[in-house]
Amino acid sequence: MKKFLKHTHFLVTGGAGFIGSNLVEELLKNNYRVTVLDNLSTGKIENIKPFMDNPNFKFIKGDIRNLDVCLKACENIDYLLHQAAIGSVSRSLEEPILYNDININGTLNIMYAAQNKKVKKVVYASSSSVYGDTETLPKIEGNEGQLLSPYALTKKVDEMYASMFYEIYKLPTIGLRYFNVYGPKQNEKSIYSAVIPSFINKLINNEQVTINGDGESSRDFTYVSDVVKANINACLASSKCNGKIYNIAYGDQTTLNDLYYNIRALLKKELKPIYGPFRKGDIRHSKADISKAKKELDYRPTTNISLGLEKTVNWYLQNQIKP
Ligand SMILES: NC(=O)c1ccc[n+]([C@@H]2O[C@H](COP(=O)([O-])OP(=O)(O)OC[C@H]3O[C@@H](n4cnc5c(N)ncnc54)[C@H](O)[C@@H]3O)[C@@H](O)[C@H]2O)c1
Repeated sequence: MKKFLKHTHFLVTGGAGFIGSNLVEELLKNNYRVTVLDNLSTGKIENIKPFMDNPNFKFIKGDIRNLDVCLKACENIDYLLHQAAIGSVSRSLEEPILYNDININGTLNIMYAAQNKKVKKVVYASSSSVYGDTETLPKIEGNEGQLLSPYALTKKVDEMYASMFYEIYKLPTIGLRYFNVYGPKQNEKSIYSAVIPSFINKLINNEQVTINGDGESSRDFTYVSDVVKANINACLASSKCNGKIYNIAYGDQTTLNDLYYNIRALLKKELKPIYGPFRKGDIRHSKADISKAKKELDYRPTTNISLGLEKTVNWYLQNQIKP
């Protein structure tokens, strides 16, 4: 891992969630100080339980919709890794007001608090969903289409706020547009779970998987440790990167059918999938151009889909799901 000064203190919002807890694990492994701010709405206490006895770790159970909580959490913080948000494109179509409150108002509180408490830099999670209906592949920063969901809109507004906070208030911010992140600790049991943990969970339990559409939709699946590295590199990136946004992906395309049959083979199952209707708000294909992050953040993803799936399936077999 690239080096920070000794005693560097990170605030990870959403640190009890999937990506956040993987970030916390890596930072603590390298002896940095980490505070997590999380309301445990979709995150799990089990994700951070192993860190509770670490003297470098502190957990604040709180909500980013509360400005006072954000101000307090930002005291004496060097770098803020803002992961807290409510995910799921489909849920956002049902609850747009909730998405606005958490993802926009919450992010505004975080940016405001970071600026007020003189945090060195805010690196925040954006999403590939901001590309909307653009059919250009690979997706490249600056070529976005019409947004297809309230979730995508909230992430777009976050990017606008972040760049404004840099331009006007000189708070260094860097946005990372994650593309379909997967790996250990991702929630596998919610009806809004992402495809990989949900396929694994169903197959382990010998349940049939429903694929939305014909299975030929594709995604750029990104292993979580590559996302962790991107966050760390972004903290240490030159000031030329401030106020900017970067695609963070593996840079490849996998169809849902290929994904399903790969997971099925790893689990040695025979079940056939069911094909359901396409989901509203979903894009057909996704693949990122990651050259900007490679050049400016020195981002080098190392885990391809076969290796990443093998690691992920093994983790679920060992840790989570009891068939
Ligand atoms: N997983 C992906 O594929 C993906 C893709 C694109 C973007 N993202 C973004 O990455 C970030 C992390 O996503 P994740 O997959 O780890 O999701 P997650 O649901 O596992 O983590 C989000 C965390 O934020 C916390 N949280 C939610 N609302 C909160 C609030 N009001 N106050 C405090 N904490 C709150 C949750 O409890 C949870 O621990 C999110 O911003 C998400 O939008 C994820």
